[in-house]
Amino acid sequence: MSVVDEVKQRIDIVEFISRYVPLKKAGRNFKGLCPFHAEKTPSFIVFPDTQTWHCFGACGEGGDIFAFLKKREGMDFSQALEFLAQQAGVTLHRDREEAAREQKERQRLLAAVAAAARYYAEQLAGPAGEAAREYLAKRGVLPEVASEFQLGYAPDSWRGLAMHLLAQGFSKEELLAAGLLVQREDGRIYDRFRNRLMFPICDAGGRVLGFGGRVLGEGEPKYLNSPQTPLFDKGRLLYGIDKAWREIARTGVAVIVEGYIDVLAAHQAGQRNVVASMGTAIGEAQLQLLSRFGRTFILALDADAAGELATSRGLDAAVKALGEQGGPTFAGGLLQFERRLDVDLRVAVLPAGFDPDDLIRQDPARWRELVEEAKPVVRYLMDKALPERAALQPKERARAAREILPVIALVPDAIERAGYIEELARRVAVAPELLQRELAGLAARSRVAAEARPQLEARAGPWLSREEYVLAFLLHYREARQLVDSALAEAGLEALAEADFADDVARSLFAALAAEENPDRLRLRAKLAPELRQELDRIERLWAEEPDLGPEEAMRAGVEAALQLRRIRLQRELGLLRVVLEDAEDVAEARRYWLAIDRCCKSLRALMLVSLARRSIGGQPQPT
Ligand code: CTP
Ligand code: MN
Repeated sequence: MSVVDEVKQRIDIVEFISRYVPLKKAGRNFKGLCPFHAEKTPSFIVFPDTQTWHCFGACGEGGDIFAFLKKREGMDFSQALEFLAQQAGVTLHRDREEAAREQKERQRLLAAVAAAARYYAEQLAGPAGEAAREYLAKRGVLPEVASEFQLGYAPDSWRGLAMHLLAQGFSKEELLAAGLLVQREDGRIYDRFRNRLMFPICDAGGRVLGFGGRVLGEGEPKYLNSPQTPLFDKGRLLYGIDKAWREIARTGVAVIVEGYIDVLAAHQAGQRNVVASMGTAIGEAQLQLLSRFGRTFILALDADAAGELATSRGLDAAVKALGEQGGPTFAGGLLQFERRLDVDLRVAVLPAGFDPDDLIRQDPARWRELVEEAKPVVRYLMDKALPERAALQPKERARAAREILPVIALVPDAIERAGYIEELARRVAVAPELLQRELAGLAARSRVAAEARPQLEARAGPWLSREEYVLAFLLHYREARQLVDSALAEAGLEALAEADFADDVARSLFAALAAEENPDRLRLRAKLAPELRQELDRIERLWAEEPDLGPEEAMRAGVEAALQLRRIRLQRELGLLRVVLEDAEDVAEARRYWLAIDRCCKSLRALMLVSLARRSIGGQPQPT
């Protein structure tokens, strides 16, 4: 965890802001007179659930505890950090040498796993690899595909890899840290992977970070993966992303399967936008990575996972999934991903007993059909609860409606939500107004829970968060800011601003960048406080590791990401507005919120139109 997060975790925003502004409880939140502009009726709200504040009055500002302190005391980022760290009893930053040392170690580990991948591939091609080659042939994997994915074979030996890499000058410690070797109690080392078919797992830029190894045939465990290392974090990686991202960027669509072999089968069949979550439920970090390249994600669920999804409709399940790490088998979790990442998630359900690999080989036409017919989560659940032609009794219809409504309540987009309500009303044959009324009660409960989940912390992650990506984009292309601002202006919206960044580090970096007439990276870097400089260096390093999209595509992706930031900010404000609307004390206050909601919705619509137009001008082919 970064110092910033540690500080945030230790200081309660309500208690902290109370020292400056008298606050009074209003529903779940706290309200007071905005300290940043003169007002008679309070429109400054502090949200304990998200640990943020927002002024819904004249100034319209908002943010976290850092943003508050900076604005209130006129501090810059590092002054605020120093002040808050002292209050929270957190020791400040590791020095720069340590960061440099870490960076150097990372390079060594990258070199070690890359060398290991080469070694395994040589073994697969050589005499030791005969059984593995036969196994691949039996599984129907063509040699070209095996070599494209740099598959390999870990020989049945205790120290084959160890000897090879030690001879190349890697140290025992490095090989242990890279997860390639295991150390016994008595200190002796041996190869982690033995007699296994090896799948190198790469980042989007094609750098190997770790491995999955399969036994040839039967045996336990079927798959052995690299352990968590400074390079390898299974929850943040997607198998095949390095081979799939181009196609995902081209079509805007990604298909997410479970397994290594599923990815090979799909790519071999010519479907190149397929990646694997590697067995575990797809997580937010993985979806965030994908959202760099596309916006429509199709989850290929096996029959079991689909069953779990279908039974997660009720309110309790939906709310529960929000409180916990919502996985893809929970409707609430999926819808939460959609709203937070601003993406479109669909499900394709596999026939019982099939995984994508089986289906692609046995009936490729059926597989294509399934993917094409993938349904948005809400529609899938609705169809499941309300078979189209079944003549349901009133009681059954009421139950189905009550199961679906909480899910609809979680749909972030108001227009989309209204569409589902209308459809549900038609299918259960009741007036939409009746459902609307039921929904209003549910909405408050589930939305509060949704807003309450802390934001995903991606700053310390092995790749750029969306906000960091936009920063890097702005820094690396002179015309970037101009392009972003003119796209926003096209939608009648103000230029990209600090408030578009939720993360305070990103926000501070943007402020520094925006203050420069002609941002020059080196000059900017020199001006930054050490903590921010360190973050900038991290962003620069990760940016350098990004796949090279080519200038045109990079421009498109960067502007799109910046527009997404605005969209997410508007959604965030809309969410907060809905929460405060619930607690409005009088008509005048409620009216103010309604007007603000209206403004947000209009902006969102304008933004969506500009985004759509940009995409069709770009000649993006539609998914097939
Ligand atoms: N997995 C894993 N560790 C395990 C089991 C599974 O990491 N012990 C991951 C792998 O990425 C695997 C995926 O979960 O590809 C799906 O597991 P499973 O369905 O059991 O395997 P398949 O991919 O179908 O592999 P195969 O077809 O070779 O049996
Ligand atoms: Mn399989």
